[in-house]
Amino acid sequence: MAYSEEVIDHYENPRNVGKMDDSDSHVGTGMVGAPACGDVMRLQIKVSDDGIIEDAKFKTYGCGSAIASSSLVTEWVKGMTLEQAAGLKNTQIADQLALPPVKIHCSVLAEDAIKAAIDDYKKKQS
Ligand code: FES
Ligand code: FES
Repeated sequence: MAYSEEVIDHYENPRNVGKMDDSDSHVGTGMVGAPACGDVMRLQIKVSDDGIIEDAKFKTYGCGSAIASSSLVTEWVKGMTLEQAAGLKNTQIADQLALPPVKIHCSVLAEDAIKAAIDDYKKKQS
């Protein structure tokens, strides 16, 4: 199977790999797994007091498409409001990366991870 150039670029030069301090109340952490293959993704966001995502980091134990999907999402969400980020769809990720059908679930993982990070952040505020 051929990976698109953009997948290879994100895979070889992943953006925003890392970890944030989860005890920080401005940080939301999403940790999700893909039942289909067992890959695991951690995606974290740092949210400003006015609800803007200032920073995002990820760590993905998984395939090239999952790494590329999470790398892309961390780039996209920076500067977004929580509502905008929550509206991101895996199909946008899959389209951008030109993922083949068997790799669509890798982009679902990234959508689930950003949603989980937003939920975690919101939970922390209440
Ligand atoms: Fe091999 Fe996801 S199936 S890393
Ligand atoms: Fe399972 Fe990519 S996340 S193969």
